[in-house]
Amino acid sequence: MVNENSGRYRLPGIEDKVAAVTGGASGIGRVISRTLGMLGAKIAVMDIDEENGEKMIEELMSRGNEALFCKGDVSSEPEINRCMNTINTHFGGIDILVNNAGIARKTSLKELTLKQWKKIIEVNLTGAYICSKAALQYILNRGGGTIIMISSGSAITGTGGSVSYAASKGGINSLVRALSRELAPEGIRVNGVAPRSIKSELLDRIFSKEYLSQMVKEIPLRRMGTYEDIANVVAFLASDLSSFITGEIILVDGGRTFGAL
Ligand SMILES: NC(=O)c1ccc[n+]([C@@H]2O[C@H](COP(=O)([O-])OP(=O)(O)OC[C@H]3O[C@@H](n4cnc5c(N)ncnc54)[C@H](O)[C@@H]3O)[C@@H](O)[C@H]2O)c1
Repeated sequence: MVNENSGRYRLPGIEDKVAAVTGGASGIGRVISRTLGMLGAKIAVMDIDEENGEKMIEELMSRGNEALFCKGDVSSEPEINRCMNTINTHFGGIDILVNNAGIARKTSLKELTLKQWKKIIEVNLTGAYICSKAALQYILNRGGGTIIMISSGSAITGTGGSVSYAASKGGINSLVRALSRELAPEGIRVNGVAPRSIKSELLDRIFSKEYLSQMVKEIPLRRMGTYEDIANVVAFLASDLSSFITGEIILVDGGRTFGAL
């Protein structure tokens, strides 16, 4: 277990590794970056939010981590190629890629425009493809590594009014499984973490307070998840403790998705 106040812990296979985290300037990605940093990894944060990205790097460096920010939109291949190249030059390679950047919107199919549909798919799904492809050679140069994709419980059950989001995350689950098979012989493990019902700015933006208080009642563990709940599973999947796991998507949802069955 790793949390903000627990100092530096050790998990085999993370210390001195280079971890590139997309969407690491805020929310879940910020805590993933912090957690992997606390475990001794060198951290590269890629995000469109330069101000919060630079703040994250300051925080990591003040804790003694080597860290680098690169401004990049995951849906832009040139920007991400440039960022991965910069990270490779700066740190000498990439060992861990966390495809975390994502956006969500709650719009019914009736209201959803093609432009809005495409935007969600481009950031959440195409973005994961672009980042994985751009990082691949640098991970291979290190003799292998791990790719972790942040999916969502809504890939399994859907979420009312978020068809594009659920479809993008369903695509992520398939990408995890397909890539895990393709890259296993090259020494790269590919896994997913599927958060659901996480107390977060993202959920506060898209759901009403009433909906969120009703949500807690549907969670068998009777609490919302935290960013740390997700980051701890990412750390496990990034470490050698999970060395025989690939192609797996771990639900982190307090039992909500299957609890009702
Ligand atoms: N919060 C939840 O409850 C929840 C549940 C299920 C899945 N998820 C997934 O977890 C991931 C992180 O979610 P969060 O709650 O931290 O969201 P968030 O909105 O708090 O943070 C997302 C981060 O990604 C960055 N970002 C957005 N678009 C980008 C782009 N095109 N290129 C680069 N960076 C970009 C943002 O600037 C921000 O720093 C997402 O993939 C999301 O779908 C979250």
